[in-house]
Amino acid sequence: MKTMKKTALSRKGRATSDVLADLQSYGAHDPDYKSGRLWSLVYYLDEEYTAFQAEAYQAFSSANGLNPTAFKSLKQFETEIITGVSEMLHGTPEVCGVVTSGGTESCLLAVKTYRDMARARGVKRPEMVLPVTAHVAWFKASEYFDVKVRLLPLDKDLRADVRKLPRLINRNTVMILGSAPEYPHGTIDPIEAFGEIAQKNRVPLHVDACVGGFILPFMEMNGQKLPLWDYRVPGVTSISADIHKYGFASKGASTITYRNLDYLKHQMFVQQDWPGGVFASPALLGTRPGGAYAAAWAAMQYFGKTGYRDLARRTIQAFTTMRKGVLAIPELYVMGDPSGPLLAYGSRDPEVNIYAVGDQMDAKGWKVNRLQNPDGLHAMITAGHLEVVDEYLKDLRDAVATVKADPTLASAGSAATYGMMSHLPMRGMVRQKVLDMFAQMYQAGGQDMDMHATTAPGQGLVGRVQALAEKAAHWYVERAQRKAAGR
Ligand SMILES: Cc1ncc(COP(=O)(O)O)c(C=O)c1O
Repeated sequence: MKTMKKTALSRKGRATSDVLADLQSYGAHDPDYKSGRLWSLVYYLDEEYTAFQAEAYQAFSSANGLNPTAFKSLKQFETEIITGVSEMLHGTPEVCGVVTSGGTESCLLAVKTYRDMARARGVKRPEMVLPVTAHVAWFKASEYFDVKVRLLPLDKDLRADVRKLPRLINRNTVMILGSAPEYPHGTIDPIEAFGEIAQKNRVPLHVDACVGGFILPFMEMNGQKLPLWDYRVPGVTSISADIHKYGFASKGASTITYRNLDYLKHQMFVQQDWPGGVFASPALLGTRPGGAYAAAWAAMQYFGKTGYRDLARRTIQAFTTMRKGVLAIPELYVMGDPSGPLLAYGSRDPEVNIYAVGDQMDAKGWKVNRLQNPDGLHAMITAGHLEVVDEYLKDLRDAVATVKADPTLASAGSAATYGMMSHLPMRGMVRQKVLDMFAQMYQAGGQDMDMHATTAPGQGLVGRVQALAEKAAHWYVERAQRKAAGR
């Protein structure tokens, strides 16, 4: 019998109360971010603040920033947001910019801008230098805009190795990227050193402060000593900073600012001959969501410098507790040199598989992201985590002890899948497998991707690839166990 696929398009329409009740029920199995169990994706304060954001969003949810001359309110929000961001980042009055839909849009735009700037001076095969730890949005931009990546390796402390930067620059280099901080380990790249090299070679330098933009300035105001990374560094030509992360705005708000209009104008798109009218667009989107701009403006107004300083203080308190707590577990180490707000940790004990520790943490109700190269677990820390960090650390100690007592946990649950995905030498095969699984989620009526499920020996090419991948994974796990046992 054919089963009915669920559809958002109801047959006859439904009462709003029914629809809203259903909405709530759909959310019942989402991660429990309100009680701090989730360590990524969400920046949550409390219900009162969420309602305030919702009201600001709702007031402008129909407004469209596509044409900046139509909704003057939205342009005004945008102008005031960019002015505030420029001040926060120590910009001069020439600093200019645009509100975007998120960090990824800001990163994509920087690449498009610098590629087009280089094109204007005749560069045909554009390249950019990205530290290995650059956010994946930059690799996406490379694919989308056909800008070749030259990877800047990390040194032994997982810091972008600035000594190797000059030799990666050539006449096709359209930009250099640094992050403040980078996503995987929370380390701030050596932006001042990058800036000197960028200036010497006359190459633009973008700082990805999607994570740090709305917290590092306030950590500094609170007295924390940090390396310089913003417009105070002369070589920095642009910065991305997300309001929907540590700015605590509703989703859909980031910024990209440039040192001056000479850069920004290469981001703009103009089509003067379109039958629909002369068209100009400052960013990637056509329709630009008014609600997101209003909510972002409202967030900045509400917190102000004192509010953001207070959030930064509590966040760093939670971060410091976490860092010390992880360091106190002899089997674990903290990766790189994070200054906050995020950190990553791995295992220094061959008997403790860190992905298996992740599974134990999942089982205790925490949601933690996995890293690779090296294997690790990740925590994007917010002020709300201050309430739960001690409980997290207690569970982490227990999780490590459980895994140490039973190393076979490394080949069970999602640990086996993550282990396979990060260690299999055939990276093309891993890519293909992920692509197949991911694509299936987007079929009409698509299925969830369950990292804990063991792969069934499927049919056809995909099945054979999966079976091969699994064999290789078992071989790897067994080898790791043999090594751990000293055999
Ligand atoms: C450093 C960095 N840049 C860019 C992004 C992309 O931001 P978004 O998820 O808002 O597109 C992220 C997301 O975590 C990030 O950590």
